[in-house]
Amino acid sequence: MKNQNATLTILTSGRAIGAEIKGINIADGIDDETFKNIEDAFNENGVIVFRNQQITEQHHIDFTKRFGDIGPNTFAGYHAHPKFPNEMLVISNIKKDGEYIGNPDAGHTWHTDQSYTERPPRATILYAIEIPTRDGKPLGDTLYANAAAAYEALPQDVKTHIDGLKAVHNIAARKRGGDAPKRVNESLKDKYPDVIHPVVRTHPFTGRKSLYVREGECIGIVGMSEEEALPLIKDLSNHITKDEFIYRHQWQPGDLIMWDNCTVQHLALKDYEPDDRRLIHRTVVLGTKPF
Ligand SMILES: [Fe+2]
Repeated sequence: MKNQNATLTILTSGRAIGAEIKGINIADGIDDETFKNIEDAFNENGVIVFRNQQITEQHHIDFTKRFGDIGPNTFAGYHAHPKFPNEMLVISNIKKDGEYIGNPDAGHTWHTDQSYTERPPRATILYAIEIPTRDGKPLGDTLYANAAAAYEALPQDVKTHIDGLKAVHNIAARKRGGDAPKRVNESLKDKYPDVIHPVVRTHPFTGRKSLYVREGECIGIVGMSEEEALPLIKDLSNHITKDEFIYRHQWQPGDLIMWDNCTVQHLALKDYEPDDRRLIHRTVVLGTKPF
């Protein structure tokens, strides 16, 4: 589908989620009317991509602020951008003086960002600077799943069963593994106690309902035994990541991609080697408390 606006073109991915917005040079600034079109495309498509952007950190931060307040980066203090420690996180496997310059272990299991916080981000915005390749093909694709479409596809009896349920989200539940320093997980566990969010949440802008539950992030359901809760969490998680709900993003340097953490779950593939340089900047837009 092609949706021509005055200044931009929205090309949907043909999948249940994702669209590329063409005709926008973020560094040039965005007028209010154009921004409204971008925001609508974002709310509608869950993931939007702008290719071939040449932006500074300040452009990235300014663009983020158009969507709301900048949210805190959970890993700030460990992998914050040295010049913008409160606004920007560095995702990278590049080492300088023996230390990673960013978080090398970003999202290698399915999740929705910072669901273990009271107000998880409305959006996460990544800007790709270096992307590993092999034989000319980009590595480290990111998969995005549409948890709203997944909710809508549930049988009515399951919808009725999960209506009103609340899940317990725990920062340490995720099997982080990889290269994440243990000290990071330990200190964050104290800073972020468990939080409770509805299993079915309502989008604050569109009113669309989506599943907001994930194996590896949720450790239980309020008022339900573990024996009943964990299999339910697992079943819903597997449902969300069925192929029909997924868009797979193949990165290029210069990509700016943003996704809606209310309706989208994602997974970063780690199919590259330690020497394959990857460098991405990340900001988040503060969200509302899920309801
Ligand atoms: Fe993530």
